[in-house]
Amino acid sequence: MDAYELITTRRSTRAFREEPVPEEALLKVLEAGRHAPSGGNNQTTHLLVIRNQEILKELAEIAEQEFAKMEIFPDTYKSLAGSIRASKKGGYVFHYQAPVLVLTANRRDYSNNIADCACVLENMMLMANALDLGSVWINQLKWLNESERVNEVLFRIGMKEEERVYGGLAIGLPDTEDGLPMRTPLPRTGNPVTFTD
Ligand SMILES: Cc1cc2nc3c(=O)[nH]c(=O)nc-3n(C[C@H](O)[C@H](O)[C@H](O)COP(=O)(O)O)c2cc1C
Repeated sequence: MDAYELITTRRSTRAFREEPVPEEALLKVLEAGRHAPSGGNNQTTHLLVIRNQEILKELAEIAEQEFAKMEIFPDTYKSLAGSIRASKKGGYVFHYQAPVLVLTANRRDYSNNIADCACVLENMMLMANALDLGSVWINQLKWLNESERVNEVLFRIGMKEEERVYGGLAIGLPDTEDGLPMRTPLPRTGNPVTFTD
């Protein structure tokens, strides 16, 4: 695939096979993420790669319990409201049972923390597409990034005291008919472009 095709065929995959992501492919995805640009070349994005299924289960259960306690207001962000509703119902697993979840953490007091994490995440999504891996951005632990219960787990697995999660990526072998990630581009109805010549 050339660069344009790689970018325009990147789609979110939300169904994963149970088997692990081949090590070599995962390392390439992570390296692609590490090569993202960063404000002032700070390179402070910390990639927490979670493959331990017990930890993923623990995080999914805590997240469900935390969301279930929240109220939905008329101005609650649509996707957050969806997580709250699904958690109140029960059985909510925010990472779609992917075998790998990469959380992007960064310094809490750094003004480009979200932007730098987003660059890392996009690089990883594109690399995953190039390698026929499925991936989807996972924002639930960003919404819960001040939850003591979530952070207790994340500190245990290596997040630093001064860091918080600003995004995440579920990665796995796609559980699709052809075994390939979703690739049909969505129509572009937004993201307008205004030229001034
Ligand atoms: C900032 C951001 C947050 C997102 N959070 C989630 C999420 O928590 N869970 C999810 O399933 N998809 C999430 N997505 C994926 C979007 O829903 C998806 O990119 C969008 O619907 C367009 O579909 P596509 O990725 O297949 O092109 C997120 C995407 C972005 C950029």
